[in-house]
Amino acid sequence: MFSKKNIEDHFIVIFGSNGDLSKRKLLPALFQLYIDDFLPKKFAILGTGSMEKDDNINREDVKSALSEFSAKNSNKYPEKLEEFLNKVYYKKVQNKNEEDFEGLKNHLDKLTEKLDVKQNIIYYFSIPPFLYETVADNLVKHGLNLETDGWKRVIVEKPFGYSYATAIELDNKLHEGFDESQIYRIDHYLGKETVQNIMVTRFYNGFFEPIWNRKYVDRVEITASEKIGVGDRGGYYDTSGAMRDMVQNHLLQVLAVVAMEPPVIFDSDSIRNETVKVLQALRPIKSSDVPNQVVRGQYIATKVGDNIMQGYRQENGVSPISKTETFVAIKTYIDNWRWGDVPFYIRTGKQLPARVTEVVIHLKHAPHQLFKQLCLTQPNNMIILRIHPDAGIAIDFGMKIPGAGYKVQNVDMSFKYADLIETKIPEAYERLLLDCMVGDSTLYARADAVKTSWKFIDPIIQAWENDNNIPLFFYECNTWGPKEADNLFEDKYTTWREPEE
Ligand code: BG6
Repeated sequence: MFSKKNIEDHFIVIFGSNGDLSKRKLLPALFQLYIDDFLPKKFAILGTGSMEKDDNINREDVKSALSEFSAKNSNKYPEKLEEFLNKVYYKKVQNKNEEDFEGLKNHLDKLTEKLDVKQNIIYYFSIPPFLYETVADNLVKHGLNLETDGWKRVIVEKPFGYSYATAIELDNKLHEGFDESQIYRIDHYLGKETVQNIMVTRFYNGFFEPIWNRKYVDRVEITASEKIGVGDRGGYYDTSGAMRDMVQNHLLQVLAVVAMEPPVIFDSDSIRNETVKVLQALRPIKSSDVPNQVVRGQYIATKVGDNIMQGYRQENGVSPISKTETFVAIKTYIDNWRWGDVPFYIRTGKQLPARVTEVVIHLKHAPHQLFKQLCLTQPNNMIILRIHPDAGIAIDFGMKIPGAGYKVQNVDMSFKYADLIETKIPEAYERLLLDCMVGDSTLYARADAVKTSWKFIDPIIQAWENDNNIPLFFYECNTWGPKEADNLFEDKYTTWREPEE
């Protein structure tokens, strides 16, 4: 059970503290934890980066990042902000420069003496993935992984590897200096309250589980759509694409939580044992099946009103002949007792009409249709698990329209998370950082899960790379991606749900 008392004094060393992730997510999350009084008395953040600057200049930088990305808190709690800034330190470290790690070690020793704490340290890799191995190596070379004077934990951002082989390589490298229990592979989707709530919805209530299987479920649809393009992340994204950026990690993890068996007890190992089994049961998509089971797309320049929305190939850092996908739709199956032959549809894309992440369980029709001829189409009943926005759950079913006859209309019975508590839903990074501070890895991805999802993804990416006949479909911004994605469904009447924000 989580308790503030379990958080020991510690340092968090952020590699890449001047970067985007640190400014947008990590520092605001840590500031929020400070305001909520979660951080221990003796706590310090040591930012590192290639920039030369002293603590005071760095504090000004952190302050301006917080005033931009944590504006409400910065304005509301000016005193707390000053206190928090006093806990932030900086040391120039060039990640490829081995000697700088000797400097880092000395700096940490000095801070340890100054603050009179044990050397419990979280190392946060908020750096480009190609540097993970180098930094891990340099930490080990300078004994910064040793637990002689306190625990050491490493948080590694996604993407964890670039393929199955490179994920194994990275894992081996990390294991040279760190035990599995010290490695935290972050997937911020698992830190989302609403993703965790899928487990509570399923396993706390008696009435969902009996129908959560092939007998009652017709298909499952998982969508993560975004309204924005790649913005200033073109350089990274062009080497990644939607498959590596969203599907291999976030969406397969959500799928695993939706489809897992109930764990025997609610602890880290039991939960992660069950989610990995789902990933292991994914029916492999062979190269020859890719054209029928996977659709990839890329957004193109589009005129919207008087404006032109930029196409992917015109984005900064993107090759003008790039074949990188900004949209993916997949039809897959989970070959196990519960889900045999139930199709799972996964879709994600950028520049779509709405920013929505949701899971839709489409239930089968009632076995005997008494009212069929009375309504034109008969939609399935749906259970909609809304992850973002309007986090919550909705059940969609048919009701009689009052008046003569038996006309049926689908209605929604919905619950919004915002109605449950007045305080705001914690950001995923707040939850995940806290978990790492107490040493709970339940919501972090385990090595076997990461490797298994690469195993599923690899053949698809290889087919795209090797077979020029597999099309890359272009789609206009502000549409739901290439219309070819509809062909993944088994009949021509079924289409993707078009969720609204
Ligand atoms: C990140 C991806 O991991 O998740 C981004 O790299 C994506 O491309 C983001 O925009 C989506 O996260 P969220 O929490 O906004 O759904």
